[in-house]
Amino acid sequence: MRSNVDPWNDREIVGWIADETDLNKPVAIEIVADGRVTRTVTADLLRQDLAEAGYGDGRHGFAVPDFKAAIPAGTKSVELRIAGGGPGATIGVKFLAPVSEFDADEALRLSQLRWRGDEHDAGLTWGELWTGDAFLDTALRVATIMPKAKIVEIGPGYGRILATLIERDVSFQRYLGVELSERRVARLNQRFGADRIEFRCGDVN
Ligand SMILES: C[S@@+](CC[C@H](N)C(=O)[O-])C[C@H]1O[C@@H](n2cnc3c(N)ncnc32)[C@H](O)[C@@H]1O
Repeated sequence: MRSNVDPWNDREIVGWIADETDLNKPVAIEIVADGRVTRTVTADLLRQDLAEAGYGDGRHGFAVPDFKAAIPAGTKSVELRIAGGGPGATIGVKFLAPVSEFDADEALRLSQLRWRGDEHDAGLTWGELWTGDAFLDTALRVATIMPKAKIVEIGPGYGRILATLIERDVSFQRYLGVELSERRVARLNQRFGADRIEFRCGDVN
């Protein structure tokens, strides 16, 4: 399953989702308000960009123009997920109330639902794709990476820090990235996987 939810604004939710194993079958998604399903939407709107990218006839878009009309007043969180739920079904989570209004367990549960999904890369770094340059410049002011270094990154996201290490030709012996999202791990291993580089799915908590 591949999906993308545009950055949510206060009114509408726009995105797409496609089942790569059956591109003719539109996917149904649910809007879940504080844990309750309030609406189901079929992702069957034509998206020319998806048709051009080879996603069948491109009819995999969805739009919920006024999502707040579909949820009870005072809702604190909204989850967007593949109908029926289950592991990895969440494709987006939005906190409508300040995090301070959630108890710690609920805030952790919701943030993990979000992280375990397959949010588009830029969504992980505040709407823009970043390089790892600023991080590495800061880290290298206080530490040295030796050629025998074994690097562990917790939550590699889309791998910008490793990409920068490689671009700068920094020598290291091994790199292990531990990431909550199974789908990100699959993409990262496909992009970077090598003898000395590995991503594993896991929760460091
Ligand atoms: C904001 S992104 C940052 C990614 C990357 N470190 C960077 O600087 O670009 C946070 C990443 O950490 C992952 N993550 C969050 N909690 C985690 C946990 N408990 N165990 C492993 N990965 C986790 C998320 O899935 C997400 O990909």
